[in-house]
Amino acid sequence: MITLSIIKADTGGFVGHSSVHPEMTAAARAALDGAIGDHLLLDARVASCGDDISLIMTHEHGSDAEPVHTFAWDVFQRTTAIAKRLGLYGAGQDLLSDAFSGNLRGMGPGYAELEFTERPSEPVICFLADKTEPGAWNLPLYKMFADPFNTAGLVIDAKMHAGFRFEVYDLYEEKRIWFDCPADLYEMLMYIGAPSRYVVHSVRSKTLDEQAAATSTQRLSLIAGKYVGKDDPVMIVRAQSGLPAVGEVLEPFAFPYAVAGCMRGSHHAPIMPVGVEQATPSRFDGPPRVVALGFQIRDGKFVGPRDLFADPAFDRARSQAAAAMDYLRRHGPFEPHRLPLEDLEYTTMHTLEQRLTDRWESLDTPKLPVPR
Ligand code: F6R
Ligand code: MG
Ligand code: MG
Repeated sequence: MITLSIIKADTGGFVGHSSVHPEMTAAARAALDGAIGDHLLLDARVASCGDDISLIMTHEHGSDAEPVHTFAWDVFQRTTAIAKRLGLYGAGQDLLSDAFSGNLRGMGPGYAELEFTERPSEPVICFLADKTEPGAWNLPLYKMFADPFNTAGLVIDAKMHAGFRFEVYDLYEEKRIWFDCPADLYEMLMYIGAPSRYVVHSVRSKTLDEQAAATSTQRLSLIAGKYVGKDDPVMIVRAQSGLPAVGEVLEPFAFPYAVAGCMRGSHHAPIMPVGVEQATPSRFDGPPRVVALGFQIRDGKFVGPRDLFADPAFDRARSQAAAAMDYLRRHGPFEPHRLPLEDLEYTTMHTLEQRLTDRWESLDTPKLPVPR
């Protein structure tokens, strides 16, 4: 049994919130090499999407393991120190607590972890997104594991006929439920169609009795009780041999569906699938980006990555995303471009309500002359 962990944090942006500085990536890579040398990790890669740095690691400590989480926290302290020295933007933004106690839950960094026994050939895809939220994985996960119009295997492969079970979190009330698909499909869509609150946390194959997908599900805004930046999510999906094929896992991203995030974490915008070189959201701090790093895992070691969206087959999704961005941007501060009030992450409305409280009057009060 090995564990694949992606642990990520925004520890400072270069320039603004648009990318990670190469010095930070180099420091993370050196730390990961050290941890492999010390036998804490079997293997590791560093990657980034926008201003978030991701540590992609294999090890034998299981999920939520103290030595691995402590190590990641230390790496993020180091990258924060570099960000501070270079005066990068929002240095240490996601490290919410000074009192780290061995587990990253509620501490700011996001993580997706998946434990599995390596198959004879083990293809996995690590997805990293920036300028959006964990519920952004709901739509593609539904398509990959429950929609035969996306995943031909659900119809054609006998190992997939029984379907998949989805574990869904309610982020507001901190509870979870399992949906057995296809039987519970319509019930599940009622929930996961509201991705700011209900988020798919994991997916399991019923036939193989194996976990197939894992996402990061923290919501920083709720953790911190105030806006500290969108909790840009990561996701791990295993592919092939009774699970969706690599092409079925990637297919949902050929449509640049709308997600919440983008400028000030407060807008709807299309998610744009890009190669690593283009994972630098700039226009209106967006559009939100997703990268897909494909690996084969052999004896716990990574063969790869392959930069799977650096492919002309996704050019059309990119140009559609640019067109959707033009369309939404023209709404300016109006919904549905701007998020509804309850999902806005800045507190202007709260301040305004306090300031204007005396000027609002009930429609039942007799009309006074309009103030001049
Ligand atoms: C979105 C994001 C950015 C910032 C924006 C304003 O997740 O991080 O869009 O919200 O650049 O940043 P501040 O308020 O720091 O000037
Ligand atoms: Mg940032
Ligand atoms: Mg980010």
